[in-house]
Amino acid sequence: TPGPAGSTTSCSLTRFLIEEQRAGRVGPDLRLLIEVVARACKSISIAVGKGALGGVLGDAGTPGAASVNIQGEAQKKLDVIANDVLLEANAWGGHLAGLASEEMDHSMPIPDVYPRGNYLLLFDPLDGSSNIDVNISVGTIFSVLRCPEGVTTPGDEHFLQPGTAQVAAGYCTYGPNTTLVLTVGHGTHAFTLDREIGSFMLTTRGMRIPEETREFAVNMSNQRHWQPPMQAYIADLLAGTTGPRGKDFNMRWVASMVADVHRILTRGGIFSYPLDAKCEAKGGKLRLMYEANPMSFLVEQAGGAASTGRARMMEVQPSGLHQRVPVFLGSRAEVEAAVGYHLEHD
Ligand code: AHG
Ligand code: MN
Ligand code: MN
Ligand code: MN
Repeated sequence: TPGPAGSTTSCSLTRFLIEEQRAGRVGPDLRLLIEVVARACKSISIAVGKGALGGVLGDAGTPGAASVNIQGEAQKKLDVIANDVLLEANAWGGHLAGLASEEMDHSMPIPDVYPRGNYLLLFDPLDGSSNIDVNISVGTIFSVLRCPEGVTTPGDEHFLQPGTAQVAAGYCTYGPNTTLVLTVGHGTHAFTLDREIGSFMLTTRGMRIPEETREFAVNMSNQRHWQPPMQAYIADLLAGTTGPRGKDFNMRWVASMVADVHRILTRGGIFSYPLDAKCEAKGGKLRLMYEANPMSFLVEQAGGAASTGRARMMEVQPSGLHQRVPVFLGSRAEVEAAVGYHLEHD
């Protein structure tokens, strides 16, 4: 029988999802869709793990003609490989009506040679691409929405649902171990890949983010470009015990959102990518639909908070598939403190 929250049982992802289905917390199609995504993440983990031996490092495209995605970023080979793995894995299963990716300009209905299901899948196939060539943890982020009633061929507009409409979200982190972290709206749970049998095994049931923290994650090199509320928040935080926050903080910044969020889900912290003079014209740096919203769902399900700095992240009504947002997420009390600086400065 499943162990109590926080315990680990020798329970595979497959068994966990079957028990969630038996308990009425996930439907059969969504369960199978999650299994397909998990299988794709295993393939991506193998590709990432080959590194230089697999010819998967470096930029995609040909020398002098790098392929650039809709974000305006030079694509890495692994961005494209991971995207292709997820497209192929999800095309034929029959659970999806359409999918959207950081690496594709527009969403894509499932090819009509296959049956279509009732779900929409959005993903960041390879998060932290700038870390691939230097062997630092990267990951895959995914979000699942329902396809609106009566829509058989979904277009971009059908994906534009707020984070509260997500039915599942997760990420897979490709680090010293490969760990899938998942929510279907009933807690956030971690599954570590047992490479010998090729199964994700439940290693934490019910991840909980500590309410308070002394650890923050932000790219400090942007400090001079931040808006006044963020300047004030970080200045007070850096003043440590001598300042208004009254405690010393530690800083960590991996530049892979998946790695930073996994640390925060595991031991607490606040992650922030605020507006700055370089990214505010685009609305921020991180993408709402396949970075901020899935991570916010996971964080809230683990007792944390997620905000744009001025509003709950999951209540943002999307206006575009690749829309960017400022992000504050993690330990609830610290996110509320950071939001306080923004609300009082407005
Ligand atoms: P991606 O590699 O999918 O484009 O995402 C990178 C994001 C996110 O993973 C990370 O937190 C952030 O970019 C790092 O930004 P900086 O390089 O500006 O620190
Ligand atoms: Mn990218
Ligand atoms: Mn990303
Ligand atoms: Mn990416």
